[in-house]
Amino acid sequence: MQNILVTGGTGFIGSHTCAELLKSGYNVVIMDNLSNSKKAVCDRIEKITGKSVKFYEADICDYDATCQIFSENKIDAVIHFAGLKAVGESVQKPIEYYSNNITGTLVLLKVMREYNCKKIVFSSSATVYGMNNKAPYTEDMPTSATNPYGYTKVIIEQILRDICVSDETFGAVALRYFNPIGADKSGLIGENPNGIPNNLVPYIAQVAQGKLKELRVFGDDYDTPDGTGVRDYIHVSDLAAGHVCALKYSENNDGFEAVNLGTGNGSSVLEVVSAYEKACGKEIPKKITQRRAGDIDTSFANAEKAKKLFGWEAKLTLDDMCLDSWNFTKLNPNGIE
Ligand code: NAD
Ligand code: UFG
Repeated sequence: MQNILVTGGTGFIGSHTCAELLKSGYNVVIMDNLSNSKKAVCDRIEKITGKSVKFYEADICDYDATCQIFSENKIDAVIHFAGLKAVGESVQKPIEYYSNNITGTLVLLKVMREYNCKKIVFSSSATVYGMNNKAPYTEDMPTSATNPYGYTKVIIEQILRDICVSDETFGAVALRYFNPIGADKSGLIGENPNGIPNNLVPYIAQVAQGKLKELRVFGDDYDTPDGTGVRDYIHVSDLAAGHVCALKYSENNDGFEAVNLGTGNGSSVLEVVSAYEKACGKEIPKKITQRRAGDIDTSFANAEKAKKLFGWEAKLTLDDMCLDSWNFTKLNPNGIE
């Protein structure tokens, strides 16, 4: 049975992917420094799957700790989620973002080379499409960024491309996620942000709970059907399944591939609010405010490449995403503690 190292495996997307890996018959070793997640997530993954995970509280920037994991486990492939991800914070703390995300990835890649581990699936982001491309985004479009977080994704993709050129037996898949939301059907794992959420659905969830007064809709004068921003929301469980497909693909293919994971459809802020209201049976108070700096009007994927290479496509609807988000929120009113 193959052993997969999942960095950032107790985080939002990582935890759902660990559950999916276990269900698909892989052994899972999680490495997480718990900077944005809780160890209790491991128990919940075990409860969902009836299988055990091995957990290391360790930092990907720590070379010795990373070597220890590879020496104690024969790691066949890595799924690399660990990273800092808040766009606004990255502008305030560029050194922390470059050092955690880029130095951490370089340490991980160096240790992988030392232990002859040649397969990696990396969490990239639709943010690499920048401000100058027009949706639907295809993987061959030029990449760029507007903030340090986005640059870390652009740079890490380039690092992976360069490694694949230097070693033709190395395989790397960079998955460009669109907007992951929702939670596992069980309600045991989900998104657990610290403080006031920046992202739309976690914010709406806290308004529905009564923790926040109202949603601020950032602009209704975009060039979109109802004037509010359009994004490609994807259920985190569909996204998790996409990682297992990418891993299977990389078992038989070397070289670098960047692949979108999205549904191929966009929804506006107001459409998400309506779907959430239906899911929770309450009205979500909202007011229109000015645009948020750095936001674009429309982002959605061309999802054909994932279908062609992996045979994967998203199945769950926006209603499923909102129902599962609300189910998780109700069952865990203070997140996972
Ligand atoms: P998350 O914060 O829930 O998970 C990331 C995990 O990595 C956390 O558990 C954190 O404790 C851990 N971590 C951070 N730095 C670490 C380090 N140096 N060493 C070890 N562990 C470390 O975030 P998520 O939403 O699950 O995102 C996972 C990945 O997907 C990130 O790389 C993120 O940039 C990327 N991504 C997320 C989104 C999104 O909207 N959620 C969109 C596109 C890309
Ligand atoms: N929005 C609001 N009010 C809020 C929060 C968001 O109106 O309180 C709007 C935004 O203006 C945007 C939409 O809801 O139109 C979605 O915003 P999110 O912050 O949820 O998501 P973004 O598309 O801005 O960004 C997300 C991730 C980034 C990633 C990007 C592209 O947070 O890390 O998708 O993948 F880079």
